[in-house]
Amino acid sequence: MFINFWYVAGMAHDFTEKPVKVRMLGQNFVVFRDTAGKAQCLSNVCTHRGGSLAGGKVIGDTVACPYHGWQFNGAGQCVKIPSIGKDGKIPARTRIDAYPVEEKYGLIFVFLGDLPESERPPIQEIPEYGQDGWRATRQHRTRNVNFQRAIENGLDPAHNAFVHDTHITETDSDEWAKVGALDFRETPWGIGFWNKVLAPPLAEGRMREASGRAEAAMIEVGTGHHAANAVWTYIHPTPRMFIRQYSWQTPIEEGVTAGYLVTMRNFLTTEEHDARIIERNFYVSNQDDAVLADVEPVLTPEDNTHENFTPSDAPLARYREQMKAWQAKGWRIDTAKVVENAGRVAYAIPSPQRRLHKGWALDAIPLVDGGRTAQAAAE
Ligand code: FES
Ligand SMILES: [Fe+2]
Repeated sequence: MFINFWYVAGMAHDFTEKPVKVRMLGQNFVVFRDTAGKAQCLSNVCTHRGGSLAGGKVIGDTVACPYHGWQFNGAGQCVKIPSIGKDGKIPARTRIDAYPVEEKYGLIFVFLGDLPESERPPIQEIPEYGQDGWRATRQHRTRNVNFQRAIENGLDPAHNAFVHDTHITETDSDEWAKVGALDFRETPWGIGFWNKVLAPPLAEGRMREASGRAEAAMIEVGTGHHAANAVWTYIHPTPRMFIRQYSWQTPIEEGVTAGYLVTMRNFLTTEEHDARIIERNFYVSNQDDAVLADVEPVLTPEDNTHENFTPSDAPLARYREQMKAWQAKGWRIDTAKVVENAGRVAYAIPSPQRRLHKGWALDAIPLVDGGRTAQAAAE
C-alpha cells in the first residue's frame, strides 16, 4: 500500500453530517460534511487519548470526540477542549492529520499523503463526464484482493478470453485467445495500450438494436493505469458506440480492496438503461474477483523471477516498474512494521501539514526505506 495518491473514500451520497469511519491503507479515518456541506477527512484517532472520532458528532464545522468532547475542525485543528474551560490554552500538539478532499464524479476523493499540492499526482480525469451525449453510472464493491493485483488484472489483455464469457467468441480456432500487437501510449502518470480483439456477436436486445451489429467483429479496446490505483478501459463495440470505464481501487488492507467504477456510455443514454449496465459490470467483475481471490501470493511479488511473463504481460510489467519507482521515493507503507506494532501503536498517514509543523501526537506510519530500494534497483 502506498501513500501520496488520491483514494476514493466512498460515494458522495454516503456522507452527511454524521461522521463515518472509513478504513483505507490499513488505517481509520473519519469523514463528515461540515455545515457548508463540504466533505472533510481526518485521521480517526483523537489526539487526547485515542478516542474514535467517527463515534462522535458534528458540531458546527467540527467533529467532536465522543470520549471527552474535544472538537477538531476540517483543517485538523483542535478548537475546543471542554475540560480546560473557555479560557484554557489549546496546545498546538493537539492537531490531528487532515487530508485534502475533492468531491468529483459522484465520489469522494481523499489525498492520503504529505505532498504539497503542486507535487500531487492528479485525480484520474473523466473527460466525457457531464458532456452532452454521455451518461454515467457508478458502482462499487469490496472484495478479498490486493489492490495491485486488481490493477494488474485490468492491464492484462490475455485473461478476457478465459475469465469472461461475455468477451468470448464462440470459435475454437487457435487464434481466438492470441493477443495481438499492443500499441503502447505513455500518459503523465501511467501507461496504456490499444489493441484489437475479436468480440462475440452482441446478444439480441437493446445493445444489438442500438449498434446494428449482430456478427462477431474485431473491435478496438484500450486500457491503461493512472497513478498507483486507477485504471481506464475504453471499449468501442462499433466505430460509433463507446463504453469508457474509469475505476479506482482503495486498499482497505493489503488483501482487501474497495473498487469504485464510473462507466460512461454514449448510447442508450436514458436512465432506464442504467440498471442493465451496472448489472453487466458486476457480472464481469465477479468473474475477475473469483479468479483473483485465489491468486498466490496475495501481494504482487517483489520481483518477476518467480513468474513467467509473455508479451501480453508487458503492460503490467511496466506498471510494476512504476510502482517500484514510487517505492523508491519512499511512498510505500512498511506493512510488516505496522502489523508488528498492531495494538501497541496508533499511526497516522502523514498529511501535508506535517511538512509545515513539528510536534504531532501520533507517529507517521512507517514507510519502506526508499533510498535502500533505489540502491537495490541500481545494483
Ligand atoms: S479521547 Fe477524544 S476527547 Fe478524550
Ligand atoms: Fe477481467
